[in-house]
Amino acid sequence: MTTTPLPALDAKVLHGLHGKSLLLTDDWSPAELDALCAVARRFHAADRAGRSTALLPNELAYAMFFDNSTRTKSAWAGAAARLGMQPVIVDGSSTQVSHGETAAETGAMLGMNAHALGVRHDLILGEGNRFMRDVKQGIDAYLAGTDDGRKVPIVNLQCDIDHPTQTLADLLWLRDNFGGDIRGKKIAVSWAYSPSYAKPLSVPQGLIMLLTRFGAHVTLAHPEGYRLMDGCLASAGKHAAESGGSFRTVGTMDEAFVGADAVYPKSWGPYDLMLERVGANKSADKQAMAAIDKRALERNAQFKDWICDERRMALTAGGNALYLHCLPADIGAEVSAGVMARHTLDVAKEAQWKVYVVMAMLAVAKVPNLADRLAKL
Ligand code: CP
Repeated sequence: MTTTPLPALDAKVLHGLHGKSLLLTDDWSPAELDALCAVARRFHAADRAGRSTALLPNELAYAMFFDNSTRTKSAWAGAAARLGMQPVIVDGSSTQVSHGETAAETGAMLGMNAHALGVRHDLILGEGNRFMRDVKQGIDAYLAGTDDGRKVPIVNLQCDIDHPTQTLADLLWLRDNFGGDIRGKKIAVSWAYSPSYAKPLSVPQGLIMLLTRFGAHVTLAHPEGYRLMDGCLASAGKHAAESGGSFRTVGTMDEAFVGADAVYPKSWGPYDLMLERVGANKSADKQAMAAIDKRALERNAQFKDWICDERRMALTAGGNALYLHCLPADIGAEVSAGVMARHTLDVAKEAQWKVYVVMAMLAVAKVPNLADRLAKL
């Protein structure tokens, strides 16, 4: 699948990651993210060669999803199985969290039994990432209080701010297509019309924060009213200045597509209504939540011309940009049927990197002397 050569493993950086959870890509340095990607590539190569990667036998990989998922659930299960772990995935709303158990209490309870914990909590601004940090605090306090040396990392399987397993999979796929390096590449991250539901902001936020760290020229495009969180915009600008890339925001999809080497058009919810959801969620008002979501779709419908179609793809570099999407895509709304048909295999390959990213996150946190262990695979 990939022609990118296997990068060297940096044993010192990997040693520093032992026991660490990745809750935002912004929490890790570019060297640490590169080390993680190098581990993901090792797992990918070993898997393709049919070699066993069961470095964590007889351990429990528990995941809670407070939102729907196809790919990430399957990547979690696939990663755990390849590492020799037992995956268990539960619906977050079926836990006692919905009855008021706090995140820290939940963490302590799961930390007793699990050896890694994945969480998706992406629909309420200001809550998902904080929930993960509170769960981690609960696990860490329990392990410290019981003198238990196990490493039980939290894996962010999408929060309100970031979607690290997705964006790192995207980075690996982009590198495969651009000779191993995205430095100097023009990448359009654009809002696109969707009639299906008010999608989280975390994919575009995660992309602008991550791709600017590696020297890419990132253009964000969205209609008025679809801004992203201030901290993510500030982070993208800072990273671009530090890496020699660039970051700008424009008001049309065409502007972002002109000359782009890669395009990532996808929908997200209107910012003011995503904020309104916070209040409706706090008061557990399902009717108010449904009314907000209906208004979000009505708002989206004002921008039906924000579609990635053949005309727009013709504006890109050589008329032949790489099309990316985290999936599922609304075909006929976010992307034309023709563009999607041409890139069906591309987006599947992009998605498949996620299993190796999850494996890498679990392994760097849990396997001592990982560089040596991987060298022996
Ligand atoms: N891209 C992504 O996270 O897909 P799922 O929502 O199906 O997990």
